[in-house]
Amino acid sequence: MTMAPLAAARILLIIGGGIAAYKSLELIRRLRDHGAAVRVVMTQGARKFITPLSAATLSGDSVRDDLFSLTDEALIGHIELSRAADLVVVAPATANLLARMAGGLADDLATTVLLATDKRVLVAPAMNVRMWLHPATRRNLDRLESDGVLVVGPDSGPMACGEFGPGRMAEPQAIVKAIERALEAGPPTDSGESVPKSLAGRHVVITSGPTYEAIDPVRFLGNRSSGRQGHAIAQSAVGAGAKVTLVSGPVALPDPEGATVIHVESALQMRAAVEAALPADAFIGAAAVADWRVADVSSDKVKKDSRSAPTLRLVENPDILAEVSRRTAFRPAFVIGFAAETQDVTANAKAKLTRKGCDLIVANSVAQGTSTFGGERNEVQLIDRDGVESWPPMSKAEVADRIVRRLAAELAKRL
Ligand code: CTP
Repeated sequence: MTMAPLAAARILLIIGGGIAAYKSLELIRRLRDHGAAVRVVMTQGARKFITPLSAATLSGDSVRDDLFSLTDEALIGHIELSRAADLVVVAPATANLLARMAGGLADDLATTVLLATDKRVLVAPAMNVRMWLHPATRRNLDRLESDGVLVVGPDSGPMACGEFGPGRMAEPQAIVKAIERALEAGPPTDSGESVPKSLAGRHVVITSGPTYEAIDPVRFLGNRSSGRQGHAIAQSAVGAGAKVTLVSGPVALPDPEGATVIHVESALQMRAAVEAALPADAFIGAAAVADWRVADVSSDKVKKDSRSAPTLRLVENPDILAEVSRRTAFRPAFVIGFAAETQDVTANAKAKLTRKGCDLIVANSVAQGTSTFGGERNEVQLIDRDGVESWPPMSKAEVADRIVRRLAAELAKRL
């Protein structure tokens, strides 16, 4: 079921108490420009950053901030407030507000409205990077998402507090787009269906695992990649509603359910499969593609009978990631590469980002003593043109979920 388009939509905007509240004024202006009606509820914290008068002036409606206001209650009660909207938007959604939402608290007007609503809720988180990465916030967000709450952002970059990383509220323009998508998705159903997925309608091509480069019919050059991280990303992307083509080298893992899996052995086969899978909205190169292949593959098994050990002449394989990144036709809107490094992880990954022309590098250390290859856990850094973001150690499944969330946010900005 589709709700009102933005031009006829009634948006209830809850403004939380964060520095990003000033961007919510811009959001009101943009929504009004599109023809939407905006009614504003501000938390007490929000009043420290912007005045109710500015929000009221821009929205053309009075601003509510008091649960027990006699005048407001007489005019429109908090239940009615949440019902007389097509969509409830929380921007900025602070760590505290998200925690109260996740816990089902109703200790001020904003949370009371959120608990009373039967409408779709979209949150635009904004907070310090440490708070965003804190396990408590992760838990709260997971809980809210499984309750059907939609999330837009946050963005990564330099923050008002001087730190760098994810936590900046999505730009008003991106929030407007997310609002449009949420309106198209329609109201939540009792069965919890119709939660619009963040990658719905997107095609994502992913490479995973090692490649095997034949020496002769029985021997090959390979590497220790297990494919766990790439396969986990494929599974997460399927979960987020994407059409996923997974091009997998030889691995001992089951095919992710719901993905189209193309099994290959060599780098040349992987490249051909990727080419055939395009166009796509995103490409994620998680495979450990062999840099070289044997120039003259023997059609018969090389025998030990000669006097000296054979010499293998190697030729370079095509760089699939770089080729996809530098395409002029059908270049995916967002390209993610991986960098497995044993030293100077950040510096090397930064150089790789530029050299290969991708949009984001996920770098991890594969130095001795780390169990990245084949292990269940991973500790990564994300490097883009703006800087470096370090994630704490976590399971490969969680790394995958977060990469997919980041990808959805990037695609929402671009497409
Ligand atoms: N990659 C690729 N095709 C290749 C080599 C690498 O698509 N022929 C991709 C990998 O999937 C990964 C990224 O490039 O996303 C980085 O691979 P890595 O082997 O770490 O980097 P290299 O370019 O090989 O650089 P170096 O070996 O010097 O570290």
